[in-house]
Amino acid sequence: MNILIIGSGGREHALGWKIKQSNKVEKLFFAPGNAGTSIIGTNINCSVSDFQKIKTIVLENNIDLMLVGPEVPLVEGLSNFFAADPELKSVGVVGPKKEGAQLEGSKDFAKDFMVRNNIPTAKYLTVTNQNIDEGIAFLKTMNAPYVLKADGLAAGKGVLIIDSLEETEKSLKTMLAGQFGDASSKVVIEEFLSGVEVSVFVLTDGNSYKILPEAKDYKRIGEGDTGLNTGGMGAISPVPFANTEFMKKVETQIIQPTIAGLQKENIDYKGFIFLGLINVNNNPFVIEYNVRMGDPETEAVMLRIKSDFVELLEGAANGTLNEKTVEFDNRTAVTVMLVSGGYPESYEKGKVISGTENVTDSIVFHAGTKTNGENVITSGGRVISVSSYGESIAEALEISYKNAEKIQFDKKYYRKDLGFDL
Ligand code: AMP
Ligand code: GLY
Repeated sequence: MNILIIGSGGREHALGWKIKQSNKVEKLFFAPGNAGTSIIGTNINCSVSDFQKIKTIVLENNIDLMLVGPEVPLVEGLSNFFAADPELKSVGVVGPKKEGAQLEGSKDFAKDFMVRNNIPTAKYLTVTNQNIDEGIAFLKTMNAPYVLKADGLAAGKGVLIIDSLEETEKSLKTMLAGQFGDASSKVVIEEFLSGVEVSVFVLTDGNSYKILPEAKDYKRIGEGDTGLNTGGMGAISPVPFANTEFMKKVETQIIQPTIAGLQKENIDYKGFIFLGLINVNNNPFVIEYNVRMGDPETEAVMLRIKSDFVELLEGAANGTLNEKTVEFDNRTAVTVMLVSGGYPESYEKGKVISGTENVTDSIVFHAGTKTNGENVITSGGRVISVSSYGESIAEALEISYKNAEKIQFDKKYYRKDLGFDL
């Protein structure tokens, strides 16, 4: 069959790498893809929000299955667009319709959904310009630090964690006044939960579900988890504290009520559910839902799936996931993200990347790269991810760090302390 992956990051390269291992695949396309995906498939230049262009790509290339990488087109209704178009109806789509994508597209919706379905999450109140006073009163009932979240999509920047109550009140007003545009016209005030985070991934066809390998990602730019938040500086799978007992709680207290809640609310959901969890005294709480795979978690998680991934995707898209099985690779997998110097603040693009051909015992996934005809050059903050297997976290990381040194571009930076907290 022919498969189209929407997106252009390391996540999409890793998904494509895994999909390519299936003998069910005839042709693999990426829209728009990056320099790495062009080695394993065909890139077609297209915005992920240009539904008409995506339709043309699907029809011209006889696409049987489309896998949507990022959240934006899902929140915008790409899956609804496919379901409503007679020419596209028969194409399998992995990615929820916009009703389900609200789990990521609106924090207020997600919190309300969790409360309705008895899913453990932090206490909260949603505030608009109409009830700021109520919001401030709610803040006063809580202890520092204070958590403020823009309701809508804010490219991962919409969460503020602030120590002083006075600052928080100011920030709340700034957010409501449009700091994140329309995304912060509603703000969720949340209780701060203290614990270690873990990302759990579920694939569902709306009835049946498969739990994929979990991972821990490292969001901060600096070692020891300091400095600004990034898209993610690396990931590790499995996560030692996510043992059988903890995962059983995740399954019964979070995954099953989530699927049941979607069904009860008549939300047709075919795709990934990414649970951002926090471990509070061995009890999982939901920090956030995402409606896609994580990046860079995917660059580690794909290494740990032994089963034919296309079988699983087909099962999710056509409602036969209960007939499929998922088998894990028991080794540890890690990924180390190489980023442009300056990221996540301003950084330069267009730096020539060399040395990837010298990497033999890691898997290189491109994130922000493109070709300028002659060379592969940097085109984003997160540039390349180096993924490795190992018998332990330390062993896998050592291999990735060794290979990270072989890849060169001006002002390359990466964290060398991943896993420090595990
Ligand atoms: P989010 O965009 O919702 O994933 O939030 C970004 C990051 O903020 C999370 O990965 C957590 O590290 C942190 N965070 C969000 N909500 C909370 C909370 N209620 N308590 C503690 N940390 C949080
Ligand atoms: N790694 C976190 C995310 O993809 O949102």
